[in-house]
Amino acid sequence: MATLLIADDEKNIRSGLQLAFEGEGYDVLTAADGSEAWEKVQRNIIDLVITDLRMPGMDGNELIRRIVSSYPTMPVIVLTGHGTIETAVETMREGAVDFFTKPVDIDKLSLVVRKTISASQLAEQNRKLAEEVEKLRRQQGYGRIIGKSGKVAQLMQIVSQVASTKASVLITGESGTGKELVAEAIQQLSPRKDGPYVKVHCASLSPTLLEDELFGHEKGAFTGAVSQKKGRFELADGGTLFLDEIGEIDQATQVKLLRVLQEKQFERVGGEKTLTVDVRVICATNRDLYKEMQEGRFREDLYYRLNVVHIEVPPLRERKEDIDLLCASFLSTFNSEDGRKVEGFTPQARKALFAYSWPGNVRELRNTIEAAVVLCKGRMIDIDDLPPQIRETGGGSTVTFTLPVTMEDAEMRLILETISYAKGNKTKAADLLGIGRKTLHRKLAERNAEEQ
Ligand SMILES: Nc1ncnc2c1ncn2[C@@H]1O[C@H](COP(=O)(O)OP(=O)(O)OP(=O)(O)O)[C@@H](O)[C@H]1O
Ligand SMILES: [Mg+2]
Repeated sequence: MATLLIADDEKNIRSGLQLAFEGEGYDVLTAADGSEAWEKVQRNIIDLVITDLRMPGMDGNELIRRIVSSYPTMPVIVLTGHGTIETAVETMREGAVDFFTKPVDIDKLSLVVRKTISASQLAEQNRKLAEEVEKLRRQQGYGRIIGKSGKVAQLMQIVSQVASTKASVLITGESGTGKELVAEAIQQLSPRKDGPYVKVHCASLSPTLLEDELFGHEKGAFTGAVSQKKGRFELADGGTLFLDEIGEIDQATQVKLLRVLQEKQFERVGGEKTLTVDVRVICATNRDLYKEMQEGRFREDLYYRLNVVHIEVPPLRERKEDIDLLCASFLSTFNSEDGRKVEGFTPQARKALFAYSWPGNVRELRNTIEAAVVLCKGRMIDIDDLPPQIRETGGGSTVTFTLPVTMEDAEMRLILETISYAKGNKTKAADLLGIGRKTLHRKLAERNAEEQ
């Protein structure tokens, strides 16, 4: 439970407030003047201070100044017998979070205390997350990959194991899971990290252009080939070549690729001279390459050449423990990019971000936070700053059953809970349940008939 410090020179006020707040479950410390209060602030872990202004010795204003400068996250509420607009404005400017005059309405004061403490706990939580992100960023090696789930730890373990070898790596996973970051991390941790790192996005090029891009051409090889051009394999010599969307390449290029991988040799388009290169190849795809191979669209020999080490990047919905940290990291990125000072997320927003299934994975999360930072009007990103599909999942409640339960009873519970979730709107409830409106009504009618 939270600890309050009450500073007032009137004994009756001290004991009255102490009694009231202890009754609400707080731990309460008291002080009869500013110096005593300041000592207690330094010696105890205090969540909130309520202070009088006029006290003998050190007054309330001086106490506020000291707290604000040494403990900037400790909220102070002022309670004074001499309340004027000027003193109120003055103390708020000094850093007090609220201002009450005596005689105080205990219920109001207590409400403000409760809200202030939960807001400052939230700020503290957000600050801790930001710290964790910073720590992760400072850790060498894994580049920009953020995550603390077991799955990411496992992923990084494999990454550091394969990085030191020359083995070809195939990275698979849904779109937006971070395959490109994994490829980068392998390169950065490898002995080739100072060599060239060359990327080719295979899906965006036609077969002829892709071949030209990978292997280069000689002057005059085709109309428009006005000079010799080095291909990406040559450019990546001594380093790493990242072939993104490898599932998209055509059969002819597959053959050529296989040859470079096997013999490390190739010719430029239109060229006779055989070139030899030393290149480590990393590939990525969001297709099921094994299936592509079985169905004859991807060469089997090439598949096994590329797939010496296979790294599967798990979808975000299977590692939801990473969401908090990713959110904090993207928040800090976009705060600095957009010159904003958004401090964190409200509990509802966090809940919604956690509940959502993220079909677009980390990329979707990143875009969501970017938009929310722009839309956010307050200090915290709230549920309203999130897109509708995410907001919808946020309010969701959990339905639990005590077993044994019949299908019929379970179904009825689900129907009733969904109707209440849809705030009584049966059309929406039917929609959410994925059944027709008529079916919903029939089921409800059957139930009613049984009950009568
Ligand atoms: N673990 C992570 N930590 C930080 N940022 C991440 C992480 N995973 C992905 N991202 C970010 O999400 C976005 C998508 O990642 P990336 O481009 O690597 O995905 P991908 O798997 O290659 O997707 P696609 O299959 O669509 O090409 C990028 O902006 C990337 O920086
Ligand atoms: Mg990619």
